[in-house]
Amino acid sequence: MSAPTTVREPMTKTALRAATDLGYKSFTAGKFTFERDEYFAHITFPGGRHIMAVDAFLRALMRDVAWGFFYGTVNFDNVFGTGNHYGTVERVAGLFNKAYKDANRHYVEKFQSKDLKATFEAMLDDWTNEGFDPFAAPEETGRPFGPKKGNNTAAVQRQRVVAQRMVGIKGDTPHRSDAAGFPVNRQFVDVPQDEPEIHAEPGFEGEVHAFNLYGYLSRSDVTWNPSVCAGVKDSLMCPTTEEYILPIIHGNDRVEWFIQASDEIIWDIDDKNTGAPVAKVTMKAGDVAAMPANIRHRGYSPKRSMLLVWENNDGRLPSMYAKQELKPYPVEF
Ligand SMILES: [Fe+2]
Repeated sequence: MSAPTTVREPMTKTALRAATDLGYKSFTAGKFTFERDEYFAHITFPGGRHIMAVDAFLRALMRDVAWGFFYGTVNFDNVFGTGNHYGTVERVAGLFNKAYKDANRHYVEKFQSKDLKATFEAMLDDWTNEGFDPFAAPEETGRPFGPKKGNNTAAVQRQRVVAQRMVGIKGDTPHRSDAAGFPVNRQFVDVPQDEPEIHAEPGFEGEVHAFNLYGYLSRSDVTWNPSVCAGVKDSLMCPTTEEYILPIIHGNDRVEWFIQASDEIIWDIDDKNTGAPVAKVTMKAGDVAAMPANIRHRGYSPKRSMLLVWENNDGRLPSMYAKQELKPYPVEF
């Protein structure tokens, strides 16, 4: 038998042509290029190419955009992601992957945060089809696949809640209600909706506030979106509702405290730099964990659950942990 003589075009080229034919725009950011086809996002960079399922890619991209690149690293998977340097951001391929690093195949490029954010916002808007909401639980949204079909701009331009003092205080971000378009989620219909009574001492009526956080979270229309609901200086309370899989693998640049407020989340904890497995943590309602500064983590929430993420917004922390001036964990037992 003779060897097959059919010459195939490189898969990348085939994929690129398909992306254009399907109606999607292609994007570039520095030396990175981004294309999508019916099922996949294709990413090329000097020395390599990468592929991700487009639903996973869009869910990760949605968080990266909405969170302004968040704290530390936002890994879309074990190859591709962003590293936040607060003003500038690094686009990374293989930087936090031991095999890429050992083979010197990783690629890193720095951008002004606002420039990369603008590119990402345009890509998210163009690649998100009508009926697909990358912030929603899979059970509550349509499918992202196939040729370009409309868009869902309202969903992808949602603003993350950022309270200056506390949700519900006069002049701050408001409570949620049916009338405001936030009905109680199907999985939280058993959550009481009554509000606490506030009895302030005379003269302190504008200074004392309380609200039903469980009721507030039961009306969240998004998943995996820690939002600032109360802040005191650098202490930020960022509760969130979770269902299915955290769409990114978050690499911490400081300690994060987690309080599981309802139901259960299972976490994979890996080494921040290499991705090597470190621990598996199951958090049940009432459990508290301090997620160390030197890990990355991804959560799995079989049923919609409530998680309180407590962030320390002190901008000095990343370099103090990087220089090992602080231990990566907050307590020793
Ligand atoms: Fe984290």
